[in-house]
Amino acid sequence: MAKTAELIIDGKSYKLPIVEGTENEVALDISNLLEETGTITLDLGYKNTGATKSAITFLDGDKGILRHRGYSIEDLAAKSSFLEVAYLLIFGELPMKDQLDKFSNDIKLHTMVHEDIKKILDGFPSSSHPMGVLASMFCAQTAFYPESLDPNRSAEGVYLSIVRSLAKMPTFAAWAYKNAMGHPVNYPDNSLNYTSRFLKMLYALPAEQYEVDPIVADALDKLLILHADHEQNCSTSTVRIVGSSKASIYSSISAGINALWGPLHGGANQEVILMLEAIRKDGGDTEKWINKAKDKNSGFRLMGFGHRVYKNFDPRAKIIKKTADDVLNKLGVNDPVLEIALKLEEVALRDPYFIERKLYPNVDFYSGIIYRALGIPVDMFTVMFAMGRLPGWIAQWKELRENKEPIGRPRQIYTGQNLRPYIPIEKR
Ligand code: MLT
Repeated sequence: MAKTAELIIDGKSYKLPIVEGTENEVALDISNLLEETGTITLDLGYKNTGATKSAITFLDGDKGILRHRGYSIEDLAAKSSFLEVAYLLIFGELPMKDQLDKFSNDIKLHTMVHEDIKKILDGFPSSSHPMGVLASMFCAQTAFYPESLDPNRSAEGVYLSIVRSLAKMPTFAAWAYKNAMGHPVNYPDNSLNYTSRFLKMLYALPAEQYEVDPIVADALDKLLILHADHEQNCSTSTVRIVGSSKASIYSSISAGINALWGPLHGGANQEVILMLEAIRKDGGDTEKWINKAKDKNSGFRLMGFGHRVYKNFDPRAKIIKKTADDVLNKLGVNDPVLEIALKLEEVALRDPYFIERKLYPNVDFYSGIIYRALGIPVDMFTVMFAMGRLPGWIAQWKELRENKEPIGRPRQIYTGQNLRPYIPIEKR
């Protein structure tokens, strides 16, 4: 028999269906609550609200588990490639070799960007943050591919938009950086793989021969995998809610890029490095900064610690910490902020304040250190996150479309004025 929960309002009992996921997660189905009881639920920040049913990513915050389509993040990070993970997220299964070759070749066919998009780029001052430039260029694709606006696009049309999104993202990302530097842009070199192509566009200077360092390319590929999807986080929920109005894939993802930009979401990796730098400049006394973080009146917040859903540890942070160690060793980089980060983590992990609040390092804590070791500038950290998250956004947008989900429309509890008569301005 289907399980139900009982809700009693003013002595009247209502039955709520219980929905169970494939990993035994349980939800109360309240879709008819307003109609049947005249009541809504209130959940600021959607902390307890399941906004969709999804088969893409499973996350158990108490146990520190993250899986994409059933594969553990540990396995994927160690054995897969970014494009393979992208294929898995978007199409549901790991690709056969010919499928991955086709996918990768299709992407190569679309890495060039219309020269008129470059004119849009030229209009941005070099002081522009690359995230704003990226979101704008991504959305500008709606103008160059107007057929993408058709809400009833064929599966082939959707595939083309997916391939174009993945193909052009590294070009946009590298160009956003070149714009910030005031340098001429590089065009994609399709003899290279996805990550190396991006690195060459990012770093190559016109008068110099540029060879991509395979250590750097491999490390970046792993970082992209680690960011590829994270179920219904703020930017993904944004993509889904914008997509639910049947907006195009480009505008939905552009909205996701903007949501990711904030310092409480993807922008946190940039904030972590700025914080570690500030601690280093202050003399590197980690105990002092831990105490400041515990003092509510100090205004200081330890960035990169704690997570809305992980209450044990963020499995990505464990992998990233180990990768940071490996990469810095391999590249022979000695970064004093890594020392500070390790000390902060060590002190925090044995401090009851952090233990009681379940504040553990999250994905952003060590990623900035690797980006720095790879030579990626601080303003580009969140852009790297966006490049990694792209397949997740695409997969979630595609799933929403295929499941024919209704337009997102939360309700509210109104706390404003009651009805009052309008007073003409001369009588106020
Ligand atoms: C993410 O990867 O999107 C972040 O960890 C934030 C989140 O999941 O809420």
